This record gives sequence, C-alpha cells and structure tokens, in this order.
Amino acid sequence: MIRVDTPLELVEARLLERRQRLGPIQRRLELNLKTSFEQVKIVEMLSEMLASQGQRSMKIGCFDERSLTAATEKVLAEVRSMPVRPVDDAGTAEGPNDERQYQDRTFARRYLTAYAGPFRLKTLAAWMIATLERRHVARALKQCQPPPAVLLDVPCGTGKLAKVLATMETEVVGADLSTAMIELARGAYPTSRFHGFACGSAEQLPFRTAAFDTVVCLRLMHLVPPASRRNITKELARVTSRHVIVSFGVLTSFQLFRLKIRRAIVRGTSAPHPVRFADLQTEIEEAGLHITQWRRILPALSCEYLLTLEKVGAGRV
Ligand SMILES: C[S@@+](CC[C@H](N)C(=O)[O-])C[C@H]1O[C@@H](n2cnc3c(N)ncnc32)[C@H](O)[C@@H]1O
Repeated sequence: MIRVDTPLELVEARLLERRQRLGPIQRRLELNLKTSFEQVKIVEMLSEMLASQGQRSMKIGCFDERSLTAATEKVLAEVRSMPVRPVDDAGTAEGPNDERQYQDRTFARRYLTAYAGPFRLKTLAAWMIATLERRHVARALKQCQPPPAVLLDVPCGTGKLAKVLATMETEVVGADLSTAMIELARGAYPTSRFHGFACGSAEQLPFRTAAFDTVVCLRLMHLVPPASRRNITKELARVTSRHVIVSFGVLTSFQLFRLKIRRAIVRGTSAPHPVRFADLQTEIEEAGLHITQWRRILPALSCEYLLTLEKVGAGRV
C-alpha cells in the first residue's frame, strides 16, 4: 500500500483558494471537503487491515505539486526494485483495458467474484468500490424527479445494480456488449419489472429515441477511447428523455500520480481513458446534457466520478 499524507489544513486552504478560480459547474465537480475528509477514515481502516495481514506499506508526505512529483519518482524507484507480480485485473478495483476480455467466461466469472464473492484481501478494493457505487447510484436515482419509471442499465455487466433496482418501482432493461457477462447477470434482476437484455454496443443502442426516462451507465467510460466515449455520451442522451447517471474516470494531479504508480505495479492500466474535467464538460454539453449532481466514489482508490446529467430543456413546457 502506498499512502500519501497531506496535512488537512493545507488541503482545506488549497481547496478554498482553488474554488475561487473555478466556474460554477466546475465548482460543483471539484473537490468537496466533507467527502474528501470522509475518505480519511476508510484509508485508516484499510491501512490497519493491511498492516495486520503483514502487508508492506509505504507512507509519503505531499505538500505541493513539486513534492508530489518528487514522491512519484521515489515510489516508482521503490516499485521498480521490487520483484513485481502482475495483478490479475479482474480481481482489482477497476478492470481490464481491453473490452474483449469481458467476452471471456472465466474473466466474467472472476469479475463477478471480485465484488460479490467470498471475502479476500486481494479483492477488498473491488468489493469496497462496488458497495459505494451501489450506494451512490441508489442515492442518485432517489434524487431524480420525477422518479425513474423506465430505466436502462448499460452496461449491466454481471448485474451489480440489480439489487438496487429491485428496491425501486421502475421497469428495467439491461444491455451489454458481452454475452458472457449477461449470462451471469441472468437471474439477478427482479422478474416482474425486468424486461430482458439487449446484447450490443453502447455506441449504437437498439432502442428508439427517448425510449427510457433514465439511463445508468456504470464503469464503462474510463475503459473506452475518447471518440467512443463521445459517441456513447451522445447515444445515452438519445435514448433517454430525461436523466443519465454515468461514471467517468476523472484525471486530477493526484489521480495522475495514483495511476502512474499503479501502472508500474500491475504492469497495465486500470483506467486507460480518464478524462480531464474541462474536456468532459464540453463533451457532455455537446451531447445536449448538463450536469446536475456529482459524486466521487472513493478518491483514495479510484478516479471514478458518478455524474447525474439531465437533458437540456427536459421538463420545460
Ligand atoms: C467494468 S464492467 C462494468 C459492468 C457493470 N456496469 C458494473 O459496474 O459492474 C464493463 C462492462 O462494459 C461492457 N462493455 C465494454 N464495451 C462496451 C460497449 N462498447 N458497449 C456496451 N458494453 C460494453 C463489458 O462487456 C463489461 O460488461
């Protein structure tokens, strides 16, 4: 475990100073003090668990951009000196960088086991992230007005959101590119309000315009290249009449540091296509959507942001 510590007063002062330079939308997406500080407890807990298992950990102090760059070099040197064992990506928090892997049945099974299987230290991050994702999606759905009546879950994967959707009075359809993932999702969704799966790409969904009032798209955008991401954003906007709840990998200085180190350790990348917020905002606007809410899933372990988007002009008479 590599732990980066910055004095909280410094973080607070920097965030306040930074907020003054941001536009109103960016301000909503930028670091939120309360959420950030809540993560500290999770990191403390994780540190203690890893220490009790005899896992190696490294602690570095970071005060500004320069010390973060220096720390990156220090950690990379340390990592390169270690005998590295590539991590099995289905067992980690963020998944592979090649969508074809999801077509493989063994890979699909490992993906499901990582967040829903028996407790293992190796899959702890995947479990924690999936738990927080479900919680944040549930909250985002509850805040949608009017409440979702017909919802598309794309990519549905192995049915991570099935339990959340089962608690709602919502008609649900699932879609995914991989039949192997869909096979494992069968049975997870509630039968009475579930209307089956469509197998195909999110870049070209087999649904009419505004067929749904809400679309949820979890853990896809950080895997696909920018051109596909833009196509998918437009396609999600096309098939919804109102809301899109979607996660992206958002690139900040800290996430750049985290991804660089992680890449050196696992010899691969977990979020191959994170996006800078300014670019994301442009893409969202170009698709005819605007941001109404945002949440960070678990900044210490993931660059994932969950955004609630609304169609421009939706609900106006
Ligand atoms: C990391 S999983 C996320 C699945 C689910 N949303 C979750 O959070 O567990 C990524 C999923 O995206 C699917 N996928 C990859 N590229 C896709 C595309 N172009 N269109 C639709 N699904 C795609 C994969 O088959 C896989 O099920």
